[in-house]
Amino acid sequence: METKIFHPDTDRGTVAAAAEIIRRGGLLGIPTETVYGLGADALNEEAVRRIFEAKGRPQDNPLIIHVRGADWLARYCRDVPPSAYALAERFWPGPLTMILPRRPIVPLRTTGGLETVGVRCPDHPLTLAIIEQAGVPIAAPSGNTSGRPSPTTAQHMAEDMMGKIDGIVDGGPCAVGVESTIIDLTVTPPRLLRPGGLPLELLVDVLGDVEVDKAVKHRLADGEKAKAPGMKYRHYAPKAPVTVVTGAGRDSARYIKHHLTARTGVICFDEYAAQFAGHIVRSLGPESDGRSHARRVFDALRAFDGTEVSEIYAQCPDESGLDMAVVNRLKKAAGFRTVAAKQQIIIGLTGGSGAGKTSALRAIEKMGGCVLDCDAIYHEMLQNNTALQRDIAAAFGRVFTADGTLDRQKLGNVVFADHEALERLNAIIYAHFPAELTARIDAADAPLVAIDAINLMESGIDRLCDFTVAVIAPAELRVRRIMARDGISEEYARLRIGAQKDDDFYRTHCTAVLENTAPDSAAFEALAARELRKMIEKAKSGGYCHE
Ligand code: TXA
Ligand code: MG
Repeated sequence: METKIFHPDTDRGTVAAAAEIIRRGGLLGIPTETVYGLGADALNEEAVRRIFEAKGRPQDNPLIIHVRGADWLARYCRDVPPSAYALAERFWPGPLTMILPRRPIVPLRTTGGLETVGVRCPDHPLTLAIIEQAGVPIAAPSGNTSGRPSPTTAQHMAEDMMGKIDGIVDGGPCAVGVESTIIDLTVTPPRLLRPGGLPLELLVDVLGDVEVDKAVKHRLADGEKAKAPGMKYRHYAPKAPVTVVTGAGRDSARYIKHHLTARTGVICFDEYAAQFAGHIVRSLGPESDGRSHARRVFDALRAFDGTEVSEIYAQCPDESGLDMAVVNRLKKAAGFRTVAAKQQIIIGLTGGSGAGKTSALRAIEKMGGCVLDCDAIYHEMLQNNTALQRDIAAAFGRVFTADGTLDRQKLGNVVFADHEALERLNAIIYAHFPAELTARIDAADAPLVAIDAINLMESGIDRLCDFTVAVIAPAELRVRRIMARDGISEEYARLRIGAQKDDDFYRTHCTAVLENTAPDSAAFEALAARELRKMIEKAKSGGYCHE
C-alpha cells in the first residue's frame, strides 16, 4: 500500500482528503498535541480491526476514541457524571482521556471487549477539523508499532507505518510529547490509570480525591490484572536495554559515569551532557524543565535504534507535574529496571588563618566525611598535571629547571612579588582545578565530602558544592591562636591576618558562617558538628537546591 504524506501547508485539500480516508474505512496517521495517532472510524469494526493489524497490537488492548467536543460524550457514553463535564469544560480540547461506560454503538472490537470506553478531545486544529468533516469519532492508539516509543513527529510515524496505512497528516512536532492522562471515572474515587500530558495536580484540583493505579509506578506481578490493559505490556522500548538511574541529577550522572562502557548510550539533562562526551547522548533539556522532558523523551528513546549502542542509561527527573508521565515512560521503557544513585553531599569549607577551619574539618571527618585539601591537590597538580604545567610554562617559562621540572620556589618568587603575575597564575590554576577536583570527588565515592579551599569562591569551586561554610573568629583571638600555633611574632600574625579576606566577604558569599568564639578547639569542634549536621540534613532534603 502506498502511504501518502499530507503536508497541510501546501496540500490545500488535506482535511477533506483525510476525512474521506476515515469515512471509507481507511487508516490515517493524525497529529495531536500529545503524540501522533493511528486513526480510523471508531464505529467501523473492519477499520478498527486493521488498526490492530497495522500496529501488531494485542486484541484485548482497547483503543480510545477522539471526539469533537464534550457535546459528543452522551452519543458514545452512558451515565456521564457531572465530573466528566467539569473536566471537559476545563481541560478539553487537551491531553485528558476519560474512561466511561460505553453505549452499544461503540463496537466491542474498539473497546477490546470492555463495557467502558476511553474518550478524548485532542487539541490539534487539523485533527479536530478531520473529525468534524468525517462526522464520526476517530479511534486512535499512538501511531507506533506495538512496543516501540510513541511517535512525536510525522517522520517517527512514517518509520513505523510507511506502506501499512493510507496516509499520514504532517501537523508538525507534538507540543506536549507524552500521551494523554487517563482517568477512570467509572470508579470512586476516580482512578489515574496512566499519567500523561495533564498533570495529576490539575486533576486533583477538579476531582478532589484521585487514586493512582498501582501499574503507574510498579511492574505488575505475573497474573496481576492491569486496569488499563495497555499498562501490562512492555512498552516504549528501544532495541537496547534501558536502565533508569534515580536520584539527584549530580548523583545519577556520577553513577552513570562509573558504569559507562564504549557502547553505552546516555539520556541525560543538559547540565550533565558534557560529562558524557564521546558517547551517544540524548538530552531531555534542563533538569528542572518538565515540559522539555515530555517533548523529548520519546525522541530520545528512539534515537539509539540503528546505532552501535548496546545499553542505555537514563537520568530520571522528580515525579511532579509532567515529569510523573516522563518517569513512567522511562521506567516502562526500562521494564522497570531502575537503580538508585547514592546521594553525595559536598560541603565547601573556607576561612582565614586561626579561625578554626581545621576543627570544623575534623568534625566532618568524624562524621565519616572525606576531606579534600585543595592546597595539597594544587601542589600535586604542579608536579603531575601536564596540561597545567604546559600553561604555566607558556606564561612563566623561566620557572622551570633545565630538566623541565617546575621549581616551586622560583614560581613563588615571581608571583608573590608581582600582583598581576599572581592573578595570571590563579586564572591558569582555576581553569584546570575544577576538573581535577571533580575527578577526586567521584573517586572518593563517599556520601559526604568536604572541600577545604582558601579561595573557594574565587576559584569557582563553590559551584561544585551543595553549600558553603566559612569559619570566622574575632581578629584578636585569631592573632593569639596563630602566634601560639606557628610560633610567630604578634606583628607578623597581624600582618598575615590583615592580608586575608574580612568577615563581610564570607558573610555575603557563603551559604553559612560559623563564628568561633569557643574557649578551645574541642568546644568549637562540637559546635561545628552540631551546626554542620543541621545543614547536611537541609541539603539532603533539597533545601539548598535553588539558592
Ligand atoms: O494521547 C493519547 O492518548 C494518544 C493520542 C493518539 O490521542 N493515544 C494513545 O492511545 O496513547 P494508546 O492506545 O496508545 O493508549 C491508550 C491506553 C492503553 O493503555 C489502553 O489500554 C488504555 O488507554 N485504555 C483504552 N481504553 C480503555 C478502557 N476502556 N479502560 C481502560 N483503559 C483503556
Ligand atoms: Mg500507545
